[in-house]
Formats: sequence, structure tokens, C-alpha cells
Amino acid sequence: MRRQLAVLPGDGVGPEVTREAVKVLATVSACTGRSLEFREAPCGGAAVEAWGDPLPEFVLELCRQSDAVLLGAVGGPRWDGLPLRLRPEQGLLRLRRHLGVFANLRPVRLHPALVPVSPLRRPTGDIDLVICRELTGGLYYGEPRERTTGEDGTITARDTMTYNNHEIARIARVALALAAGRRRRLTSVDKANVLECSRLWREVVQEEAAAFPQVQVGHLYVDDAAARLVHSPHHFDVILTENTFGDILSDLGAVLAGSMGLLPSASLGPARGGLYEPVHGSAPDIAGEGIANPIGAILSAALLLEHALGLKEEAGLVEAAVAKTLAQGYRTKDLAAGGERGLSTAEMGDAVVRAVVQLSEEGDVKHAHLP
Ligand code: IPM
Ligand code: MN
Repeated sequence: MRRQLAVLPGDGVGPEVTREAVKVLATVSACTGRSLEFREAPCGGAAVEAWGDPLPEFVLELCRQSDAVLLGAVGGPRWDGLPLRLRPEQGLLRLRRHLGVFANLRPVRLHPALVPVSPLRRPTGDIDLVICRELTGGLYYGEPRERTTGEDGTITARDTMTYNNHEIARIARVALALAAGRRRRLTSVDKANVLECSRLWREVVQEEAAAFPQVQVGHLYVDDAAARLVHSPHHFDVILTENTFGDILSDLGAVLAGSMGLLPSASLGPARGGLYEPVHGSAPDIAGEGIANPIGAILSAALLLEHALGLKEEAGLVEAAVAKTLAQGYRTKDLAAGGERGLSTAEMGDAVVRAVVQLSEEGDVKHAHLP
């Protein structure tokens, strides 16, 4: 069966890293006989330039009709001054909402070969956790969002955090099921000492946890969670949290794993398919230089194979190829030892492609574990 993938490279380093991810997927397709068809479309700033809209209707339609969406990154200083609805990030938020992908999984793993690159002086154990971030609610979407000027000239800005019990319950079930299939520890992160949304969050998570007696469930305030993530990341298995906290904690997680450029994500909803994107942004400071790390994008492609297409072995092949490439010492600049130039984005992609070919010829790919 021919699978159709929508490819939205976006802005900044997005197109550079997405090209490598597509290269790897095309290699998997050639090596395994799985037929994949790629359809590229603009989104974010690129779509604002071409169509005056960060998510034109035909792009959304293409995404809806595809088996999965692979996205690079959106945004950049060039579009920062635009009104809210024209900002590249709003295109991404609309896409997430329209696709209904409320569960954003962000696996954080410190590869043994990258221990020296992690900012942790001495990692206290294996880092292998998944951040399960609620993606279509909270501050990112709450209404009203506005700016008003009072009679005395005082300017007030307002964003709204809302969550209802159903939104919390469905993401809690995803995280609990994920934990049940892993090390059976779930940490729910909130700010229940201050926020009403968080108090409801805690109650509902606790209720849903009753159906998963095998999972040990704990709750942390987000400030404490940030500190513990740095201090003892090996304690965590699955972290469940709302949209904004999840955004912040996942950057922290990425840096623990060695670099922002390494982390993938899968955004899932009730429908099959989903949206797959690296956790990093468009990195305008290095865009166009061909030095961005494509591994976050390549591992997002692995998550796509697993979750959207049900191709577990092929996903394991990509994961194993990335692990092999890192173990062999291939490094982009963000991972290179001080002063070293590092490989270009394309050279790193090529190294992963070679590893995919080698491993599939050897035919002994162990099923690497994905969230
Ligand atoms: C991320 C990004 C996005 C987010 C931005 C680009 C809207 O930072 O995926 O983490 O905040 O969700
Ligand atoms: Mn982010």
C-alpha cells in the first residue's frame, strides 16, 4: 500500500533538517519495499510570503488527506512584527488544533556516546524519559487573548488558561497507558498551589489513575520538577503536563540529552496519522548555513513510521541507525568538541542513510524502544 506523507518544511533550519529526514525515509522505503509518497507544502512564514496565510486552506486539506504530517519548524524575526493571525506560529497552532493532535510525546534519551556533551557534570543514571505534553489547550488557545488600553492610558495584555475535565482526562489516559508500557512511573506536573486549572488537573489525573493500578503516580509543582529534572533526571519515566509547562520542560530535557537539535516529537489525536516535528525551533541564527543537527527531524520520522504507519521494525531501523552514527563519532557542530567544525546537516543525514542501508543489509535490527 502506498502511504502519503505531507511534508511541511517551514522556515529557518526547517527545510534543511526536513530534507535529511525525507532522505532517510526514502532510504527506508527503498530498503524495505514500503512505498512512501511525499507531498511538500508551505507553512509558517514561507506560506505567509507565498499565500498571505501561515496555514492556507489547501495545505490543511493536504494534511488531512495524508497518512501523516512531517513538519520542520516555523517562525523567524522577519515575521515577528505581523499581527497575531499572520504569525507563523499561529499556523502551527491552527494545524495542531485542526488535526486534533492533543497528545504531544517528546522522548528524551541521553545516548551513551553523548554523555560528555550533556551539560550535566556527572549524569546520575540513565536518562530515558518521555514528556507527554497536552498540545491543544491551555494558555496557547484560551480566550480572551487581547490587549486593551484603559482611559488613563494603561495598557493591559490578557491571555487565558482554560482546561476542562475531558481535555485533562484524555491526555492523562495517554500518559498512563504510555507509563504502563514502560517503567510504570508517571509524574504529573502542575502548579496546583497557585492555579485553579492545575487543581482540576491534579484531581482528574488522580481519578484516571485508578484505572491503572500498576502505574505509580506522583505529582510535582513545575518549579520543583524543573529542579529535579536537572538534579536527578533518571528518576523520571513519563512526565505528564499541560501545554505551556510542557513546552518549557521539553527544552530543558533536550539540553540534558546533549543538544536542542536531537529531540523528536509525535503529536497524536483520536484519528490515525498525526504530526511529527523536531522539538527545536527554526533557529534563525544558523539558518542557511547548513550546520543544523538533523537528528531531531530524523527521529521524528522514526516516530512517524511507528505511530502513523504502524511500521515498528522500520522505526527501529532508523533509531538504530542514528544510535550507530552517534556511536561512530559523527557530530554536527552543536555536538562537536570545542572548536571543531562538525559535519554539515547533509553530511550527518548521509551518515544516517549509510547506517540504515548497512543495518538493513545485516538484517539484525533489534527493535529499539520508542515511546
Ligand atoms: C514547540 C515550539 C512551539 C510551541 C512554537 C513554535 C509555537 O516551541 O513545539 O515546542 O511552543 O509549541
Ligand atoms: Mn518549544
